[in-house]
Amino acid sequence: MIKSIHMLFAILSVSGFISRIMLAEFKPTLLQAKLAKIAPHIIDTLLILTGLTLVFQGNWLAGEYGWIISKIIILLVYIGLGVLAMRNTGMKRWSYFVGALACFGYILFIAISKHGFI
Ligand code: HEM
Repeated sequence: MIKSIHMLFAILSVSGFISRIMLAEFKPTLLQAKLAKIAPHIIDTLLILTGLTLVFQGNWLAGEYGWIISKIIILLVYIGLGVLAMRNTGMKRWSYFVGALACFGYILFIAISKHGFI
C-alpha cells in the first residue's frame, strides 16, 4: 500500500519536473501560478517521507542498506540538477535536464535491483 503511494509520488515527481521544464521553455508565465510553485515541494517531501516509512516498515536497515544510501545520494543529485535545469536556459538547461532524468532512471534501477554503489 505505502509502496504504491511511494511509486505514485515518484511518477508525480518526474512528470511534474518534465512539465515544469516544458512550461519554463514554452509558457513561462504559467509557472507563476501558486500551485506550480508549491506542488513540487509537497510531492518531493511526500516521496521522501513514504520512502523513509518503507525503510522502517521493511526493516531494511537490519540488512545490507547501501542501496538506500545510494538512492538518497542520487535523489539529491536529481533535485540539484533539476534546480539547475530550471535556472539555466538553452543547451545548459537541456544538459541538466537530461542529467536529472538519467539520475531518475538510475534511482529506479537501484529501487528495483536493491543494488547501489555503496
Ligand atoms: C526519485 C526518487 C525515488 C524513486 C523513483 C523511487 C522508486 C521506488 C520504486 C519503483 C520502488 C519499488 C521497487 C520494487 O519493489 O520493485 C521503491 C521502493 C522503495 N523505496 Fe523508493 N524511490 C525513490 C526515493 C526513495 C527514498 C528517498 C527512499 C528512502 C529514504 C526510498 C526507499 C524505498 C524503499 C525502502 C523501498 C522498498 C520497499 C519494499 O520493497 O519493501 N525511496 N522505490
